[in-house]
Amino acid sequence: MRMVDLIEQKRDGLELTTEEIKFIINGYTDGSIPDYQMSALTMAIVFQGMTEKERADLTMAMVESGDQIDLSQIEGIKVDKHSTGGVGDTTTLVLGPLVAALGVPVAKMSGRGLGHTGGTIDKLEAVNGFHVEIDNAEFIDLVNKNKIAVIGQSGNLTPADKKLYALRDVTATVESIPLIASSIMSKKIAAGADAIVLDVKTGAGAFMKTLDDSKDLAKAMVRIGNNVGRRTMAVISDMSQPLGYAIGNALEVKEAIDTLKGEGPEDLTELCLTLGSHMVYLAEKAGSLAEARTLLENVIKDGSALEKLKVFLSSQGGDASIVDDPAKMPQAKFTFELEAKEDGYVSEIVADEVGTAAMLLGAGRATKESIIDLAVGLVLRKKIGDQVNKGESLVTIYSNFEDVSEVKQKLYENIKISVAKVDAPVLIHGEITE
Ligand code: URA
Ligand code: CA
Repeated sequence: MRMVDLIEQKRDGLELTTEEIKFIINGYTDGSIPDYQMSALTMAIVFQGMTEKERADLTMAMVESGDQIDLSQIEGIKVDKHSTGGVGDTTTLVLGPLVAALGVPVAKMSGRGLGHTGGTIDKLEAVNGFHVEIDNAEFIDLVNKNKIAVIGQSGNLTPADKKLYALRDVTATVESIPLIASSIMSKKIAAGADAIVLDVKTGAGAFMKTLDDSKDLAKAMVRIGNNVGRRTMAVISDMSQPLGYAIGNALEVKEAIDTLKGEGPEDLTELCLTLGSHMVYLAEKAGSLAEARTLLENVIKDGSALEKLKVFLSSQGGDASIVDDPAKMPQAKFTFELEAKEDGYVSEIVADEVGTAAMLLGAGRATKESIIDLAVGLVLRKKIGDQVNKGESLVTIYSNFEDVSEVKQKLYENIKISVAKVDAPVLIHGEITE
């Protein structure tokens, strides 16, 4: 087989076979296929697309390029949740304990964040002592015992995707639905889930800015999952503004605690109940989505979801007393209010730019080497549709430095107030199961 012939084939709109795709991915991973040929192929894919069969083959070839996590020693149906980006997205922290409280095994492999705010591991490290450096045997024991554990990302998961994504990033070939869908799904499948619930974000803070693109991506991922034998569904959720109020690591842990108590922001609570219902249903712990939702509401009301969070934190060395006393987490030295400059209604909160403002405070990483400040971040006091009076606070800024003028300027530029009344955005834009 020669790579040049395969590039020509794709350029001319012909389908690649399973063997041809394996040849490409193996050759690219081991270095026998150079970057210049791979970038020609990815550009051909951007223009010609890929068939459903090619997408499944590409996904599995990338899965097989590295380690695959074996979760077979964990009892029950392992359902993983994946969100495609987002700002201040606290859903993972809430959903883990929430569904685990119903006996759904949560075997979570997580990473650190780059940009906007921290990843799930960064957020959990706001809990003193909590660590994810556990070995596989301990990880599996913990999930069997408590139904929930988090482990750091394995070093050699989908190396083909890692290399390909880096290449696409510098060759203007990221924007291709088949390539994005197979990239995301390969990582989920290699991480060992039996079933997958996808939270595909749409709007300014999302990877996909329009609803049509988000739906296409969701459909592509759901098809891949189901074609390779993992039950997969997707919820399309709004990311035109940040989710919940808090953006920042300790602040989001506190928000997750509030939500597990039943006192969280409305949008975050609703999204967690929606995603959670699908997880519980796919894990066969409820016979219908409505039943799953009722069960989830019950474990919030009776305190068992919150109790599950404590068990989870302390089992991995964390100080669970922060659940009853969140002030024990790292606290910022200074707080400032961003005061509204006029009367009206909040009409826009540009999620990714607000995320960048949190990053400027140190809540996220500008580069891989940056050190995160777990204490700092933003808490929105108003969301889209809320009425606001001049002088009222739009955002509380938690900072460890005194001069936050740059942060304030960024926030003023990206939180718009209109005279006319504005409706709150729709949170759930659709569900895709087929
Ligand atoms: N996220 C991924 O993991 N892969 C892509 O290709 C795009 C976004
Ligand atoms: Ca949040």
